[in-house]
Amino acid sequence: MYDPDSYDNYSQFQRHDAKELVPYLVASMTPKLGETVLDFGCGTGFNTKNIILPALSEIGSTTSTQVYAVDLSHKMIEFASVRYEHPHVTYMVADVMKDDCEFPCKFDKIFSLHVLHWISDQRKALKSLWNLLKINGEIAFYYISNAAVFNVYEKMSQISTWQSFMTDVKNFIPKSYFSIDPATDMQILMSSVGFHPQEALNCRRKFCFDSFGEMIDSAMAANPFIHRIPEELQEEYKADFCRCFMPLVRLTPTIAKPNAIEVEYSIVMMRAIKL
Ligand SMILES: C[S@@+](CC[C@H](N)C(=O)[O-])C[C@H]1O[C@@H](n2cnc3c(N)ncnc32)[C@H](O)[C@@H]1O
Repeated sequence: MYDPDSYDNYSQFQRHDAKELVPYLVASMTPKLGETVLDFGCGTGFNTKNIILPALSEIGSTTSTQVYAVDLSHKMIEFASVRYEHPHVTYMVADVMKDDCEFPCKFDKIFSLHVLHWISDQRKALKSLWNLLKINGEIAFYYISNAAVFNVYEKMSQISTWQSFMTDVKNFIPKSYFSIDPATDMQILMSSVGFHPQEALNCRRKFCFDSFGEMIDSAMAANPFIHRIPEELQEEYKADFCRCFMPLVRLTPTIAKPNAIEVEYSIVMMRAIKL
């Protein structure tokens, strides 16, 4: 789905969310010695090594913690294994949506950062994660429930040049985009799968990019369609993408950052336990 180099260079806002939210989530969970932890959808591994692991160590789950960081993308895992190698992190290719997906163990804790909005069958993903959790194990995740980019995907899919590359656009616009209370929807879904939700929050978030160009680079790094577009059309795709996005952002210039752009988005943040 993504190019690891580009995602690693342009995932500032995902890193910002992780820095702010992961320590809070970890502090709300029960520390255990020698725990096994899953980071589902780890991407390039930056947040696994630099945010999740240190946050776990901070609250006492010290050197015996082992984190399994999985992603369905071979390219992401190859990249992560080199760039964010760590003796307490095992990177693995795995797709939790596959019925034959195998893991070496069950987990005390599962994290998933910015992943579930890419998964159209969230019930199936949650069921797999439930099966992977030990009894008394805890899961914590957040994902984008609403953002201007989903509106841009809709608009782009209506432009005749891009229609044939975006026929499955609905799979990339989460159901939460159409909901007035996605955290409650998720809480109900999690309960129906067998989890006991501990916290379900709708959070409104903001991120300030230095320029419109930087924001577009970030949006492109996580764009699921760009790799389907023939190379000779990619600049035109980007130009249309910018044109559709421009009216949806707010200019917030300061003396230090005269071209700053503020983007608002919503996330659902969940914490639950398997009893
Ligand atoms: C937006 S990235 C988030 C990466 C990282 N967690 C972060 O916070 O920067 C989403 C990742 O989820 C992975 N992913 C999506 N569906 C998956 C699945 N079914 N199984 C495993 N990984 C999946 C994608 O390959 C992608 O690398």
